Amino acid sequence: MTANELRSKYIEFFKSKNHAEISGQSLIPENDPSVLFTTAGMHPLVPYLLGEKHPAGTRLTDYQKCVRTGDIDEVGDPSHLTCFEMLGNWSLGDYFKKESIAFSYEFLTSKDWLALDPRKISVTVFAGDENAPRDEEAASYWKEVGMPEDKIAYLPASDNWWAAGPTGPCGPDTEIFYWVGEGLPPQGSNKGTDSANWMEIWNNVFMQFERKDEKTLIPLPKQNVDTGMGLERTNCILQGKTSVYLTEVFQPIIAVIEKLANYKYGTDEAKDRSVRIIADHSRSSVFILGDQKGVAPSNIGAGYVLRRLIRRAVREGMKLGIDKAFLAEIAEAVIENFKGAYPELEQNAQKVKSELTQEEAKFRDALKNGEKEFQKMIPNLMKNPKKEVSGKTAFKLFDTFGFPLELTMELAAENGFTVDTEGFKEAERRHKEASKSLDAGSAKGGLAEQSDVTTKYHTATHLLQQALINVLGEQVAQKGSNINNERMRFDFTFERPMTKEEIQQVQDIVNEQIKADLPVTMEIMPLDKAKEEGARALFTNKYGEDVKVYTIGTKDKWFSKEVCGGPHVQHTAQIGDFKIEKEQSSSAGVRRIRATISGGLPLDK
Ligand code: SER
Repeated sequence: MTANELRSKYIEFFKSKNHAEISGQSLIPENDPSVLFTTAGMHPLVPYLLGEKHPAGTRLTDYQKCVRTGDIDEVGDPSHLTCFEMLGNWSLGDYFKKESIAFSYEFLTSKDWLALDPRKISVTVFAGDENAPRDEEAASYWKEVGMPEDKIAYLPASDNWWAAGPTGPCGPDTEIFYWVGEGLPPQGSNKGTDSANWMEIWNNVFMQFERKDEKTLIPLPKQNVDTGMGLERTNCILQGKTSVYLTEVFQPIIAVIEKLANYKYGTDEAKDRSVRIIADHSRSSVFILGDQKGVAPSNIGAGYVLRRLIRRAVREGMKLGIDKAFLAEIAEAVIENFKGAYPELEQNAQKVKSELTQEEAKFRDALKNGEKEFQKMIPNLMKNPKKEVSGKTAFKLFDTFGFPLELTMELAAENGFTVDTEGFKEAERRHKEASKSLDAGSAKGGLAEQSDVTTKYHTATHLLQQALINVLGEQVAQKGSNINNERMRFDFTFERPMTKEEIQQVQDIVNEQIKADLPVTMEIMPLDKAKEEGARALFTNKYGEDVKVYTIGTKDKWFSKEVCGGPHVQHTAQIGDFKIEKEQSSSAGVRRIRATISGGLPLDK
């Protein structure tokens, strides 16, 4: 069976079970600023899962292209992909757990459909917590279709509770795994006992709830089913292959790379990795550029993700010794391979190829500029007794000029310098934290660009405001604030420059609150009640309107309380060291503080 056949069979099977086939949607989500891309098959169906009537009925099936860049750095291994297809079937208040499980099992094992060996299938169900009970119901339906007791693992919410994002429809799920180890699975083996040899192929979510915010989970008006089967993975196991890259989904793409690089895939592990990255990233780039609502490379949002994908592919191409523009040629193979299922790729072929070529040229120019920039640095480096390029400088070359670390190291070596690679990694790590926003679904409060670092800065702003009031008095009022991944700026009313002592005091107070690791909690209440409770409110909300109130500290002993949209850290130790870098005049009667944070604990996911 091929991926094309699997796709058709899936749709055909669910049509035979009275599902209407609906078309997959654009990769760029409609009216959803919280994610950059469509990250799951259910994504376009969210309004219907929340209760809206779907014009095609209550049983639906489709295939959907998806992009997830959360683990982009993992791509290069044999299984991770940034772009994949999800096959899905939905019940909108129609059937529930029993039929969903029976359908899945029939499709996977029936001789008329996939005919997979039932002995190589195991499942997981939700173990239960304060939100919902242990899913004995799902387990009982699995037993009904013949799943042995010891092939059913009960796992916690981290495994078996599915939500598209911080808010929205969600619920317990049951996941289906296929044995990818040697021979047959040993007696009693399941995902709970051996997570390496069981590969997830299908996820059936029983959407019974809507998450309104961190604390509020409400039952949905109707019980829905949302399932997603990974096309590339399932295709891979059906063919008994060990990697998706060895299937016909990627082989024609890899063939072009082999030709361009004059290299045979499978002969050198480091080079294979480059080939896989190029194959994955170029496929994703073609899908993004060739989308109905395709975006062009840019420095923000989806365009930035695209730029990163293209540039990383080019870099890996250079490692393989490809020294001319090559992505357009690979794009042709991608389009040829997927135009049947995604005709938009062929319709947009010209645009796809010209954008890729342009971006590739831009990147090559950027590399040249980086090299010039490095040459300019040489006289200064000569004076440095350590003869070392600092991590910060190396990172600047990388971040601003797209100049890869390996090239900086080569240039440095040619000129008799070393590079502080540890320092580079540190700078990169910090920056990465800052660009976590690229992870789909991680944004709260509606901001697609929200990252962990800006969240930390956001909470630090609340601490700073309160500390300023404590030191300088109630005349301090926030006039504005601006946060990016590198620093925060905070403007406030105050008539004179702060003294050194005052600045130190304010900084110390903020750091004390961070060290005390105070909890940060959020409550929704009417604005008037918030004000009654002493919350500071900057913006003029409507009278009686419900607002979010963030409290830093405990209910009876809090340090700061503000009306704010969030998001914020969960506890203050996540912020790290706080440092006031500058205090200066901003305009008449308004002072400006520029501050930075560093270190800190990771945010809870
Ligand atoms: N929403 C679930 C997933 O993405 C099933 O479709 O895995």
